[in-house]
Amino acid sequence: MDKALVLAIDQGTTNTKALLVDRSGAVIASASRPMTVDYPEPGWAEQSADAIWAAVKAVIDELAAHPRAADIAALAVSNQRESIVVWDAATGKPLAPCVIWQCRRTADACEALIAAGHGDFVEAKTGLGINPLFPASKIAWILDRIPDGRARAETGAIRAGTVDSWLLWNFTGGQVHATDHSNASRTQLYDTEALAWSDDLCALFGVPKAMLAEVRSSDSRFGETAAGATALPAGVPVHGMMGDSHAALFGHGVREPGTVKATYGTGTSLMSLVPQRVRSRHGLSGTIAWSLGDRVWHALEGNISVSGQTVAFMASLIGLKDAAALADLAMTVPSSHGITFVPALVGLGAPHWRNDVRGEISGLTLGTQPAHLARAAVEAVAFQVADVFAAMEADIGAPLSGLSVDGGASRNDFLMQFQADILGRPLRRGKFPEVSALGAASVAFHGLGLAMTDGGEGQTLFTPTMPTEAREAHLAGWRKAVGHLLS
Ligand code: G3P
Repeated sequence: MDKALVLAIDQGTTNTKALLVDRSGAVIASASRPMTVDYPEPGWAEQSADAIWAAVKAVIDELAAHPRAADIAALAVSNQRESIVVWDAATGKPLAPCVIWQCRRTADACEALIAAGHGDFVEAKTGLGINPLFPASKIAWILDRIPDGRARAETGAIRAGTVDSWLLWNFTGGQVHATDHSNASRTQLYDTEALAWSDDLCALFGVPKAMLAEVRSSDSRFGETAAGATALPAGVPVHGMMGDSHAALFGHGVREPGTVKATYGTGTSLMSLVPQRVRSRHGLSGTIAWSLGDRVWHALEGNISVSGQTVAFMASLIGLKDAAALADLAMTVPSSHGITFVPALVGLGAPHWRNDVRGEISGLTLGTQPAHLARAAVEAVAFQVADVFAAMEADIGAPLSGLSVDGGASRNDFLMQFQADILGRPLRRGKFPEVSALGAASVAFHGLGLAMTDGGEGQTLFTPTMPTEAREAHLAGWRKAVGHLLS
């Protein structure tokens, strides 16, 4: 097994990536496909479930043609979390678009549950405040629009699953409907203390338990590839599945509490292991980090809904080619010239959790130039992370020493230096941005009984250099703008 490789998928909102990884953590080959998100109504966000599967199949097929493909000992999956697919168990066809994590279509239903006083109960069971981010209300919304949907779901004729389980269903030719603890814990239907789907939560949200996946440890042998499902031969085991944020924490080599990581994807997730299951008092979520064999690790998490996407959004708004062009433009000015952009483009996630607010740009003057808007967009990414970082420190009750970073936007040195400056703490960035896929590969090697050596070499350190007064002035400007939006 010395030559064993894992083919690790990272199915994200913006991109689907795959890596061929060996036991030393070296990336032998990679493939990726861009993804499209549809926004059919203000606040709604969805993707084609068929397109998600097609993209995953395409990256697998590309790597299955690699000269070392015969060494692939397992598949591993890390995935965008909280996005939900509902499909017909007989045909394997999706019955609705994948309603993704960013979608706010169930905001009213969630507000009604909160108004009826269910918030405390739901948070006590799941660690998650009632919010349209989570799949529970989304599954109910979809079922309400399928003829006989609930009755068919009661018999298991209709299935619901997070993206990992949708992929597993397709890998295995419809043989296995399973998920892992990390993904289950993000659905708002899973009791993270009892480690079981909650009958009470299923009843509250109107989701039949029979349509949900079997929950297994993250390093389980989930199933085997079916003949013809992809270009891989039949019988390749799927040996690790984890939500992307969790896989990134695992990929950073974190196994004990004490380190916080931030994954700069479409959104940003900050996560830290905690010694036992916790309930946040500062606007974060308690969640399951992962499970290995019989042991379950818990974490605290803060989700920012629009983070790296802020930069892409502003780039298209001011007519630039892409996020990289926007970052280049941002660097041409020494400050945002008093502009603050609060990118509440789908409301605000952690630590504010407000579905009703929308983005705001403040401080516009006749002297405002596109470069100032560009700079304000880049800075907004860092400010939002700083807010969650502060909430995490408050929940943990001790100062945090720094932040480990990954994800696409973490490659931007300008943003990372500004982030370190605004936090007043050092940032550590690994050699590869694809830490989620590496984490999934590492879990799969663990499941195969083969430890992956993830050396941690090639790290870049960003040390804060901004004077305290400047930092405080920046933060005061940001807090004023957020306060105005929330008031
Ligand atoms: O919670 C949502 C998160 O998992 C999405 O990740 O990589 O698609 O931004 P990403």
